[in-house]
Amino acid sequence: MKIFMDTANVDEIKEFADQGIVYGVTTNPSLVARSGRTQADVIPEICRLVPGPVSAEVISQDCEGMVREARELVKIAANVVVKIPCITEGLKAIKILSAEGIRTNCTLIFSLAQAMLAARAGATYVSPFIGRLDDIGEDGCKLVEDMVKVFRTYNLPTQIIAASIRSRAHVDRVMLAGADIATIPTKVLKELVHHELTDKGLAKFMEDYQNSLQK
Ligand code: E4P
Repeated sequence: MKIFMDTANVDEIKEFADQGIVYGVTTNPSLVARSGRTQADVIPEICRLVPGPVSAEVISQDCEGMVREARELVKIAANVVVKIPCITEGLKAIKILSAEGIRTNCTLIFSLAQAMLAARAGATYVSPFIGRLDDIGEDGCKLVEDMVKVFRTYNLPTQIIAASIRSRAHVDRVMLAGADIATIPTKVLKELVHHELTDKGLAKFMEDYQNSLQK
């Protein structure tokens, strides 16, 4: 499973890019707004920080507008992927863009049926939002498990980006499910490296090492 960061904060991306663990980035209008910058300003910078795909979302809600925006967005850098919402107009736009060789990430996916439609329209990636499904009492990770099964059954090339991740347990479950990618917010990514027994074990090794010097 590849690891993407779910943020538009350049400083946060730099920190993790240095560790070599982050392959790509996903953004959305809310994350860009939170960064205090504009999409036009922040996306080129992010594209230089990571080797893999960087999702930038369209604002238009009609097919023509989405396609127009997408064609502009991909001029920014070779690794831009255009994020398109899973609505009727979005599927039409995905079909056109896919025929032009423009990579898309169909976002705001909350059901297996939506995932299948996006894949059939030609989406390169689909993003099921697991945390938001948990918020309404459903099991978001189960959707990812089902999607992996269905995409394998029908041999669909579309890759699954597990999105709206809120915890280490989410990361573990989507990894076990076989998600191609998990896009992880900075706070959760920071937590992943830590384990209480690692800290304890390291402290003991250091203590024993120091003691051995005194013998
Ligand atoms: C995915 O691409 C979205 O940017 C993101 O995962 C949404 O997460 P949220 O539900 O925490 O806003």
